Amino acid sequence: MSHPFSRSTSPLCSRFIAILVLTLLGIPFSLAQSRPDAKDLLRQMTLEEKIAQLSQLPGFPMPEFVRQVGKIDDVIRKYGAGSVLWVSEPKQINRLQHIAVDESRLHIPILFGLDVIHGYHTIFPAPIAMASSWDPKMVESTQTVAAREARAAGIAWTFAPMLDIARDARWGRMVEGAGEDPYLGAAMARAQVLGFQGTQPGALDRVLACAKHFAGYGAADGGRDYDSSYIPEEQMWNTYLPPFKAAADAGVATFMSAYMDLNDIPASGNRWLLHDVLRDAWSYKGFVVSDAMAVHSLITHGYARDGEDAAFKAFSAGLDMDMASGTYLKYLGTEVQQGRISLQQIDDAVLPILEAKIRLGLFEHPYVDETRIPQVLNAPQSLELARTAAQRSVVLLRNQQNALPLSKNQIRSIVVIGPLADAELDLLDMWGAMTKPGPTVTVLQGIKNKVGSSVRVEFAHGPNIRRDIPSFFENVGMVTIKEQPKQTPEEARKAFDDAVAAAKRSDVAVLVMGEIALMSGEAASRSSLKLSGGQEELLEAVVATGKPVVLVLINGRPLDISWAAEHVPAILEAWYPGSQGGNGIADVLFGDANPAGHLPVSWPRSSGQLPLYYNHNLTQRPEDAPDFTSRYWDILSTPLYPFGFGLSYTTFTFDNLKLSQTEAKVGATLDASVDVTNSGSRLGDTVVQLYIHQRAGSASRPVRQLKGFQRVNLAPGTKQTVHFKLGPDELQFWTPAKRQWVVEPEQFDVWVGESSAATLHSEFRLTP
Ligand code: BGC
Repeated sequence: MSHPFSRSTSPLCSRFIAILVLTLLGIPFSLAQSRPDAKDLLRQMTLEEKIAQLSQLPGFPMPEFVRQVGKIDDVIRKYGAGSVLWVSEPKQINRLQHIAVDESRLHIPILFGLDVIHGYHTIFPAPIAMASSWDPKMVESTQTVAAREARAAGIAWTFAPMLDIARDARWGRMVEGAGEDPYLGAAMARAQVLGFQGTQPGALDRVLACAKHFAGYGAADGGRDYDSSYIPEEQMWNTYLPPFKAAADAGVATFMSAYMDLNDIPASGNRWLLHDVLRDAWSYKGFVVSDAMAVHSLITHGYARDGEDAAFKAFSAGLDMDMASGTYLKYLGTEVQQGRISLQQIDDAVLPILEAKIRLGLFEHPYVDETRIPQVLNAPQSLELARTAAQRSVVLLRNQQNALPLSKNQIRSIVVIGPLADAELDLLDMWGAMTKPGPTVTVLQGIKNKVGSSVRVEFAHGPNIRRDIPSFFENVGMVTIKEQPKQTPEEARKAFDDAVAAAKRSDVAVLVMGEIALMSGEAASRSSLKLSGGQEELLEAVVATGKPVVLVLINGRPLDISWAAEHVPAILEAWYPGSQGGNGIADVLFGDANPAGHLPVSWPRSSGQLPLYYNHNLTQRPEDAPDFTSRYWDILSTPLYPFGFGLSYTTFTFDNLKLSQTEAKVGATLDASVDVTNSGSRLGDTVVQLYIHQRAGSASRPVRQLKGFQRVNLAPGTKQTVHFKLGPDELQFWTPAKRQWVVEPEQFDVWVGESSAATLHSEFRLTP
């Protein structure tokens, strides 16, 4: 980089003098600083130092980065750095921070960022699982712990929550978000932002959150990761943007731009998204980081001619910080010198980054106190919370003749079968495995812990499962998670036969199947949702033994379980349940916890139905029309399990749905109430869900839309009246007819129940 605006004064020199004076006076000093004023700091900065603040440097060796802009130590020493990512070793964090604080001219601390998605050491259930809890308070608590652990280890910025609406289970990253619904997605967004950031700016046990990937990433063509998204504006506003808006309203400190083309303009260079929506419509004041290498990728997309053009297009679209590509470091200075980007624009981008560092308390507390880390990471309450979170996230999909819960007293032997039964890291999902996870309780271990010595517990792995093409993340060096080794056909056959034989000599078989962690997540899309690697065949063979079978699914997306849904008496969806997954699952299997998770996605029968979502419009010939229907002729169009579905060991009845008014003026707020009764014999939770439908209007409206939910706990025989508000926030939509938000004077349906297939109905009319 050239030095057009270098200054000759050296603050380092004056600091040394100050330190010398303090030493002579016997006053203790620290190279950590007091809280500066962001604008003052900005005034002292050279252009290079400013551009360095707009840059996030890769914390693990990337030869191309080094070739283009130099070693990160040197960059930090010379100019400082806005942020460094992918470092999770506290020692390394302190080492780099010392370079920034002690050796760079202005001593501006580095903001260390990492993907702390659902835990740092204590790993909580993956985001899709947490969304299945429909319990924002719990989700907030888990992210509070994640923040505390990460901050103790020196991470002050997490790249979470991921807020991408996902309606296509082929897309591997469905696991990282809250599923298909904008309302549930918005609730989870708020909860996570609050959990990560808290409400006290600068609290030393919180981190900055990052709403990602802005926006439309989940609509990738064909469910292929990174592929183009084509999303009309009305769908952007009504479906894809609401979780991001909720995060912005909750004060999320940063946004991350997405990778893919959105309507032909890459999201990381998309001024409509980054400026018109984020800054103009939402008045967002935080800063935006690109996804990794995404500034440089503008060239690959065929959008930017070269690095210079990429820097210009990304920056002028509204992208403040370049993650790991070095493009800003290399080219932004030239853009300013040649007058294509003004110094004022640079200052406007740098200021929120400085302010964020100041607010976080980084100037006063730049370093990790390594002695404190073990105590924070090993807090017993965190493990308890992880166990509760696992219990509360699992979804009971099927339970014929009360096959579950199992009773310890009536069973003498259990076989736990499957390639995920004794897997540790796989229970954490890819991101959970990539931070600094503590020990994981596997499902096998959880069951052993639960039954003690009175029941014989056997384990049979069954054939190994692998991706057909290996995951990039197995090889990047940051990750210890591995594919299961290749087997010869004979080895796989033996593992299969051993499992069936073990089932034959046991009272009950618990099969733990699904996807190893590397089978879902980034760059982990798949065309089929089948239980792969011989799992389906093994499941069928074990069911054929006639022994009672429970299927526990460990996976990041709905799988094709059409056969199991007819032949396996009990199916429990556990997703990636985290560090305490095995204990949480065993609690549910043996009835010490009553499952109450509900699906945050519509569960397809096969991948041929995708994309699939409950809040679609009606066609001119709906599924149930007598002829010419829009359904497939070889399979139903409806899901196997509807959005919002989940069973319990008890039952609930819903009645007395009342609206405060059946006619009200546009702008009014109605109250909807319903009586929920636990009509079964166990204490349990249900998720009360409210859906609406606008019957006509300036645009076709979805058949149903979730507009309220509450998870309630009821003792057997007790009743609770649950209230929901139906006001402008719930009744408005963005109409393509006027290209604005409207509440229209129309007739509305209301349903309340335990899923999107709820039948308890009422209606009201809005008048002008
Ligand atoms: C992912 C982001 C992640 C970033 C940093 C990218 O590959 O798309 O979700 O935050 O890497 O690790």
